[in-house]
Amino acid sequence: MIEKEGSFYPDDELRGRAWVNNSDIYNEAAKDPLKFWEGLASNLFWFKKWQKTYGGIPPYFSWFIGGKINITTNIFEKNNLGWESIKKEIAVIWEPEPVNEETKTITYEELFNDVCRLSNALKKQGIKKGDVVGIYLPMIPEAVVSMLACARIGAVHMVVFSAFSPKSLRKRLKYAGAKILITADGYFRRGKIIRLKEKADEGIKETGVERLIVVKRMGMQIPWDKERDVYYQNLILGENNFSPAEEMDSEDPLFILPESGTTGEYLPIFHTTGGYTVQALWSGKWIFDFHRGDIFWSMANIGWVTGHSYTVYSPLLNGLTTLIFEGAPNWPEPDRWAKIIEKDKVSIFYTSPTAIRMFRKNEEIVLSHNFSSLRILASVGEPLDEASWHWFFKKVGGGKIPLLDTYWQTETGSIIISSLPGVGPFRAGFVGLPFPGVMVGILDDEGKKCPKGKPGNLVLLPPFFPSFLRGIWENGKLYRETYFKMYGKEVYFSGDKALESREGLIKVLGRADDIIKIAGHRLSIQEIESAINSLDGVSESAVVAVSDRIKGQVPMAFIKYEGKESGEAIKKEIKKRLRREIGPIAVLGDVYLVDELPKTDSGKIMRKLLRCLLTGEDFGDLSTLSNPKVIDIIKERIKAKAGPK
Ligand code: WT7
Repeated sequence: MIEKEGSFYPDDELRGRAWVNNSDIYNEAAKDPLKFWEGLASNLFWFKKWQKTYGGIPPYFSWFIGGKINITTNIFEKNNLGWESIKKEIAVIWEPEPVNEETKTITYEELFNDVCRLSNALKKQGIKKGDVVGIYLPMIPEAVVSMLACARIGAVHMVVFSAFSPKSLRKRLKYAGAKILITADGYFRRGKIIRLKEKADEGIKETGVERLIVVKRMGMQIPWDKERDVYYQNLILGENNFSPAEEMDSEDPLFILPESGTTGEYLPIFHTTGGYTVQALWSGKWIFDFHRGDIFWSMANIGWVTGHSYTVYSPLLNGLTTLIFEGAPNWPEPDRWAKIIEKDKVSIFYTSPTAIRMFRKNEEIVLSHNFSSLRILASVGEPLDEASWHWFFKKVGGGKIPLLDTYWQTETGSIIISSLPGVGPFRAGFVGLPFPGVMVGILDDEGKKCPKGKPGNLVLLPPFFPSFLRGIWENGKLYRETYFKMYGKEVYFSGDKALESREGLIKVLGRADDIIKIAGHRLSIQEIESAINSLDGVSESAVVAVSDRIKGQVPMAFIKYEGKESGEAIKKEIKKRLRREIGPIAVLGDVYLVDELPKTDSGKIMRKLLRCLLTGEDFGDLSTLSNPKVIDIIKERIKAKAGPK
């Protein structure tokens, strides 16, 4: 039995709303996880049932072996709520950025027709099952249609976040061997027009992309290659409203989503069809308590995994309305997000700690809105600090509705740790209990289980749940070395530090590796450093993450610069370079020019020491530092930057 300590939801009314109204599922799942997942999988439509539930040799594994399924069939014509009953309901609400532009709604039937038309068009372009299609689109309905059209015909979609630079796009397209890229002429963000087509033109150079499909979002003049480019709207014109679904093997890849790894290399993570579909359906149903009629708004961009699982797949499998929006949540006014909730009667709102802290900064204007449509709040992406938890829970949720902190990763495909509404327990600062059937552990560096309350490394254990990644695209070595080096082939290391409370609730403390989360976005320290090091005159750099009141973390850079530019000029240059190489999410905090970086005798940069110098924490043992004289100089630089107090 699960203790209810700290639960905010003792009243039966809240409890009664939940799909899951008791904790037996935890016991059931723990007793026989394979049977548990099999039970959930049976609720889907399979062209052919699987022969074996789980198999493989660690670290490789498969789910629902021999089964045939298509995720779009389960969204549309074989949705388990019944196609006839959902087809006239609204599948997607789109809020465009010029806020006076009309809101668009799309029913399930219209969405299905759009998906089929694009599926047919893609097939005519020669796209076959297993081919990779790149998607470089802003938050417009065509992004959802494109993903689903790929899934319909068995093409593997790879969405690249529209704010990523052409260089990032190129790397990803090359890795994955994409043949087609779907993009748009442009889009709005914070009142500015972003000329996306030009970025796409640049990004596809030297890649295998032979065709550019361009959604006309702005209708503006853009460069055009008559042989290669085609407008999306023209391509689907006259196409049939129906396209048969490809019968996918349960283990056929569904999508690739590149993420940052610690070595600075991209990790083109891929997910397969059967297992992902099962967990996309059920994680949403239980964690967000999805019910028909819900209007669900997950604020993340479709360029991230949250956009895949909780803007597109999970809500649509559950037959509800998913809301997408173009632009920014706090533009043109800081309360745009609150207005959307009020106007569209959002019932479940999924956001991030950075956004919550930003909302809180404008408390007065934000709280003038009516949030009575909300019945669940949730957060993801980085640790949700207690103060923000309480503010969001009390001020936006009125202290009456569940606030879920959900932990997962691109690798896990779906939320894997979060207490369930109606079951609990909930405690500020804790993500809660692992989802039933998910095996979590907290280990010390030697691989011993940490006692309750002691921080350690968060690991996942077999049987690995169905929506877990199946690998790094065509790079088995990178897969094994990234996740299974620390504890061997049967223990996946998440890269996060965590601890377990007395009641078994998990608290995620942050990354244990060289990954920095800026406003919830994952970037590797190495990736930032190598972009900085590519500048003339920069011989070395060290980037460290420090906490930030709004963004959670920001990177600070220490740079050994021997070029001719002035200090200010080179700092500007660095910021520009990061934008170009990575994209606007790679925003540096301060930049310090130093003559030397602190190093160990063996020549390793002591980044932790730099962080301590910035935060004022005590570093402790300095005996391995080979050049102690650097400390005073660096301290001085930091002090000069901070200015007189
Ligand atoms: C990393 C994964 C999958 C959602 C979007 C991010 C951090 C995620 C939480 C949370 C504390 C969290 C972890 C994780 N993270 N959710 N609720 N509390 N940290 O996906 O870009 O693959 O990043 O985000 O560090 O490893 P991602």
